This record gives sequence, structure tokens and C-alpha cells, in this order.
Amino acid sequence: MKIKLPDFSLAYDDAGQGLPLVFVHGYPLNRRMWQPQMRGLQDTARILAVDLRGHGDSQATPAPYSMDLFADDLNAFLEALGIDQKVVLCGLSMGGYITFAFYRKYPHRLAGLILTATRAAPDTPAQREARDQAAETARQGNTASIFNSMLPRLLTPKTYAEKPALVARVRKIMEQVSLEGILGDLSAMKERPDSTPTLARIDIPTLFLPGANDQIIPLQEAQEMHTAVHGSQLEIIPEAGHLLNLENPPLFNRAVRRFLRETIDHGKV
Ligand code: MLT
Repeated sequence: MKIKLPDFSLAYDDAGQGLPLVFVHGYPLNRRMWQPQMRGLQDTARILAVDLRGHGDSQATPAPYSMDLFADDLNAFLEALGIDQKVVLCGLSMGGYITFAFYRKYPHRLAGLILTATRAAPDTPAQREARDQAAETARQGNTASIFNSMLPRLLTPKTYAEKPALVARVRKIMEQVSLEGILGDLSAMKERPDSTPTLARIDIPTLFLPGANDQIIPLQEAQEMHTAVHGSQLEIIPEAGHLLNLENPPLFNRAVRRFLRETIDHGKV
């Protein structure tokens, strides 16, 4: 489905009924990364998965982008759909950086947060430098080398070696990003603010869902965020890396389902 927002037309999937649960993808992916959740959770909630601007089937606009811009897009999306009830936002990695920005800008819209394979800290100087190098590589038309170097780190070594169909699926999803999307994401991630001070302010139900074997964001960071967010929950998904929702969908979905049922449905908001 597509919906016209003020700046661009946004592609999304929408299935199920009840509490809206909005999935926000990571870099350089799109809404198709949430297929196991669209299928597996639509009996529990109204599942919405968006393509951020420049990704998948959404229109691209010129870089730079920012986490605040993406958060504004999500707010415009909810407005365009006429959703005024509170939603749960689930962001993976860059989607988590956007979730923090959304929490700062639109806390009144939120019933809960699921932060998966993400971090609160901003980029280090070395990471900022690597963003510039990746942008240069992308401008030279060599996006394949960016995808090739990312793929083995997005999945566990075991998944990478033993599940070629999943590896091919992730590669195909990456190949659907536009150049503007890549450059926009890299600029947004490089310039993103430190969300560590936000952690102490979060006062809605929050679930941290890291993969036990994430090679991009160490597990320890999820444990530290969990300690910093009062009353939050932490569930570590075994046999999974950075793309835990694709590597271990049964346990990922079970954790989300439990969080929605126990925390949100039972009025602990
Ligand atoms: C992502 O998965 O969204 C990115 O790897 C996050 C990052 O590079 O910081």
C-alpha cells in the first residue's frame, strides 16, 4: 500500500486489528525485513511496517536525512492513516535510533517501545569516518561492496554459512535501497544525537530485544540501556545476531507477543 505524505509517498504494509504496532527497519533495509512479524503477529495487534523515505517502494528525496526527519515522517504517516490511538513502536538498529527521536518529539503518541539490536550512544569518531567512506563508495556506484561487507556481520556466522536462502533474501532487500536512501541514512546516523540522556526519561513500557550474537552492537549495550530505563524488560534472543527477527522469528515473535499482552493490554501503560 502507498500513502501520500507532505514530502513523498510512503509504502507500508498493514494487517490485523487492535493496538497499532509500527515496525521501523534498519539500514539499508526496508519493510520486507518484517515479513515474519507481519505473518506471525497479525492475530495479536494491528501490524504496520513502513519503508522509510528512500527505501523499498517509498519515494526518495535528496540527502541529508536526520533521525528527527524520519520521526516526523512516522508522525505524518500516523496522521495520514487517522491513527490517534497510542501505538507501540518497534525499531531495529537505525530504526531504534529513530524510535528514540520519536520518543523525544511525540511521547504522547506512544504506548510502549520495543528497542531491538540498537544502541543509545552516538557514533564514535571512527564510526563517523567510516560513514563518510561508505558514502564515497556509494557515490562511486559501488553499493555492492557495501552490502558484501555488511552481510556477514548482520547475521551470525552460523546463519551466514547454513542459511543461504536467508542470506540471499537479505541481500535482495538491501538492493532495493536508492542511492539517496543510503546517503540519507549515513548522514542521519553520523549526525545522530546521543540518546543516553533520554533513557532515564523513558516512562512507558519498554522492551529491549537484542540478539545474543550481534556482531554490530555488543549485547552489553542492551544490558546497560535496560539498567538505565526504569522498569524496562530485557529478553535476549539466542542463536541470533543483528537481524534477530529474521534469524529467530519464533522467539522474537514470542517475546513481542508477551510484551504486548502482559504489559500493554493489561493497562500498565
Ligand atoms: C543498522 O542495522 O541499522 C545499522 O547497521 C546501524 C548502524 O550502522 O549504526
